[in-house]
Amino acid sequence: MKTTRFSRIGFILAASGSAVGLGNIWKFPYITGEYGGGAFVLIYLVAIAFVGVSVLMAEMIIGRLGRADCVSSFETLAPKYKSLWKYAGFSAFTGLLILTFYNVVIGWILYYIINISFSLPTTIAQSETIFNNLLKVDITSQILYFSTVTILIGLIVYRGIKGGIEKFNIVFFPIIIVIFLGMLFYAMSMDSFSKSVSFLFNPDFSKITTEAIMVSVGHAFFTLSIGMGAIMSYASSLQKDTNIFQTSIIIAFIDTAIALIAGLVLFTFLFEYGASPAKGPGLVFISLPTIFAELGLSGSIFALFFFVALAFAGLTSAISLLEPSVQYFIDRFNYSRARSTLINILLLYIVGIMVLLSSTNEYTDIFKVGNKSLFDSIDFLTSAILLPFTGFVMAIFVSTILPRTKVIALLKESMSDRAFSLWIFSLKYIAPLAIIFVILKEVGVLNFN
Ligand code: TRP
Repeated sequence: MKTTRFSRIGFILAASGSAVGLGNIWKFPYITGEYGGGAFVLIYLVAIAFVGVSVLMAEMIIGRLGRADCVSSFETLAPKYKSLWKYAGFSAFTGLLILTFYNVVIGWILYYIINISFSLPTTIAQSETIFNNLLKVDITSQILYFSTVTILIGLIVYRGIKGGIEKFNIVFFPIIIVIFLGMLFYAMSMDSFSKSVSFLFNPDFSKITTEAIMVSVGHAFFTLSIGMGAIMSYASSLQKDTNIFQTSIIIAFIDTAIALIAGLVLFTFLFEYGASPAKGPGLVFISLPTIFAELGLSGSIFALFFFVALAFAGLTSAISLLEPSVQYFIDRFNYSRARSTLINILLLYIVGIMVLLSSTNEYTDIFKVGNKSLFDSIDFLTSAILLPFTGFVMAIFVSTILPRTKVIALLKESMSDRAFSLWIFSLKYIAPLAIIFVILKEVGVLNFN
């Protein structure tokens, strides 16, 4: 039973801190570029509203009613087959897996803050050399920054829900918002802003493809942090009378707003300086620094703010990825928080170093799974399979297994009957179907071309 509870605003900031991460600032703009702008944004908004918010609520409800780590929550809430349902809770360990590459990327961001902000590359070729050198050759720097990130999130999570997680988010999440709003105002003063607005909000319907739909549903899961127990673990420390419906909408709104702002800002810069929008994952690390370089000193300051905001966004998400497995050892084995954090950090550290080495020239052949690097394999396994699969299980669990009276008691004050039935319908049919399609598509069983 959880005794420490988030404050109301503390929970909203912590859950938003979890949701707003590299997914919003780094991934959302480049997939939007790849899948043709406005049409993709439109599908993404629909996916967030219909699949995202309903599963987010479901996950929050399991945590709030279970009041324990993910395994125990499923176990206590399932009316029967408890020993089977508890396995759904092992999704808590998906977070550790995600962290093995997520922390490597936050490490690159720290490297950029310290080494690149004030000596920005002026050509794409130069920029590529810097990035590739870090990724493929400079093992020492990568290990140094990865270790820093990993120790830092360990220290925060070790201090617990109130003193660590809530405090860190209350201080740092607003900073992310302020930096992005500042950048938005700056972008609004540029000529290309209107071009960027129409790129994001003027859908060209001919660009809607099945693939774009799949990618947007998959991304809706990742960006809202659903499908592994991060939100569930946080929700196990929710205040009793929290309005779950309203809170989910606020979190989804903040998350979407930051993704759209990041997109608007990046595309304004790209259009202003003539780079093409479809630059893939290298967008932030390769194209962007050269654009900042065009602005001289203010560009460096800009770069610094941008990468700092990105690092904070990454860190507030990373702690939410670590908390579920830390809670697991505390609740199931009675470990102290210190001991549980230490064990998890060690596990993360060992696998993380292998993931990091898998993209370097020297070790690429050792850390390979099939023809993919360990980095790409873990990314694929988690985002394409584990998160959607657990999301599927959560949707079914709340809509058909969990005694309906409990769910109604929790939501009756905050939702109209119609909204409630619509939500159950979405959990029972729309979300599971959408998820099955995503998984089949990702593992290559379905091939639409
Ligand atoms: N939502 C974060 C992002 O957009 C990543 C993240 C944090 C996450 N916690 C999660 C993803 C839990 C899935 C599950 O970067």
